[in-house]
Amino acid sequence: MKRRTLIAAAVSAAFVLAGGTAFAQSPIVIKFSHVVAVDTPKGKGAEEFKRLAEERTKGRVKVEVYPNSQLYKDKEELEALQLGAVQMLAPSLAKFGPLGAREFEVFDLPYIFDNYAELHRVTQGPIGQSLLKKLESKGILGLAYWDNGFKVMSANKPLRMPEDFKGLKMRIQSSKVLDAQFRALGANPQVMAFSEVYHALQTGVVDGTENPPSNLYTQKMYEVQKYVTMSDHGYLGYAVIVNKKFWDGLPPDIRKTLDGAMKDATKFANDIAKAENDKAMEEVRKSGKSEIITLTPEQKKAWKKALVKVHKESEGRIGKALIESIYKETGFDPAKL
Ligand code: LMR
Repeated sequence: MKRRTLIAAAVSAAFVLAGGTAFAQSPIVIKFSHVVAVDTPKGKGAEEFKRLAEERTKGRVKVEVYPNSQLYKDKEELEALQLGAVQMLAPSLAKFGPLGAREFEVFDLPYIFDNYAELHRVTQGPIGQSLLKKLESKGILGLAYWDNGFKVMSANKPLRMPEDFKGLKMRIQSSKVLDAQFRALGANPQVMAFSEVYHALQTGVVDGTENPPSNLYTQKMYEVQKYVTMSDHGYLGYAVIVNKKFWDGLPPDIRKTLDGAMKDATKFANDIAKAENDKAMEEVRKSGKSEIITLTPEQKKAWKKALVKVHKESEGRIGKALIESIYKETGFDPAKL
C-alpha cells in the first residue's frame, strides 16, 4: 500500500473509532416535560416510556422526564417543543387551541363521552388519527393519546344544581369550549396554568375548578376545596407529541424502537388511568377534607340540560362535521339528554 493510502486508511479508521466512541458516550437525549405529578396516569406513563425506550435502545437513547411544571408551564412547554428546547410533551387536549389546532377542543364538550370505551372509539380510530395529522403543519408529530379521566367539580360551596355556579370564578385550561361550559352555568371562567391552581384556590383568586380526581388529589387541591361533586361532566386526556424535525431526524432503527416503546407505554398508561383515578378519589374521601357530593339522577339531568347547548355553540369553532362524526361513533344524541 502506498504511504498516502495508508495514512488515509488510518485517518478513516480513527474517525470511525472516534465516532463510535463519541456515539457510545453521548446518547440521544429526549427531554419529556409535563405539568402533573409523577404519581398520576400521565406521570407513570412517562416513566414507563423512559424505561422501555432506554432498555430497548440499550442506552442509545436517554429520556429525561421533567414532571410538575419543573421546566415549563402549560403555554411555555408548547413553545419550547416547537423551538426544540424539549423533544416530547403530553399536554391535555384542552391546550391545543392556542397552537391553532382548535379541533382538539371537541374532547372538552360536556357529556360527549359516557365512558372510556366510547372515547377510545374516537382516540383509537380514524378521527383520532386525522386530528393528530393536523399538528404536522405546526412542526409537531402526534404519537399517541393517553387517558386521564372524567372530571369532578370542586368549590367551597356545594355544587348540586347548575344555579349553584352562578357568579363563581372557576379556573379553566386554555379551551374556549371550557370557557363556554362555565358561562353556560353562569360562572366566570378564568384561564390559568396548572401549576398555579392550588395557590389560586388557597388564596381565593378563584373559587373552584374541574379536574379528574388524580390531579385533584396529587396537587392537594382537595385540601383547599370544601366540596367535590362527582359530576363526570367531561373528559380530560392527552396527546403525546414530539418535535417533528427531531423525530424525523432520528436514525430509522432508533425511531422504530421508540415507536414500539411508545405503543407499549400507551397501553400501560391507558390501562392504569381508571384505577388511578378511582384510587385518588378514595384517598380524597378518606382524607375527610372535602365533602363528596354524588348527584341524584334529577340533578344530573339538570346539568346535562344546562350544558348540552355548548355543543351547538361550539360548532363554529371546532366544526359541525367533526362533532357529528363523534356522535356517530359513540351513539351520542343531544336530543336524548
Ligand atoms: C390542567 O391544566 O388542569 C390539566 O391539563 C393538567 C394535566 O396535564 O393533567
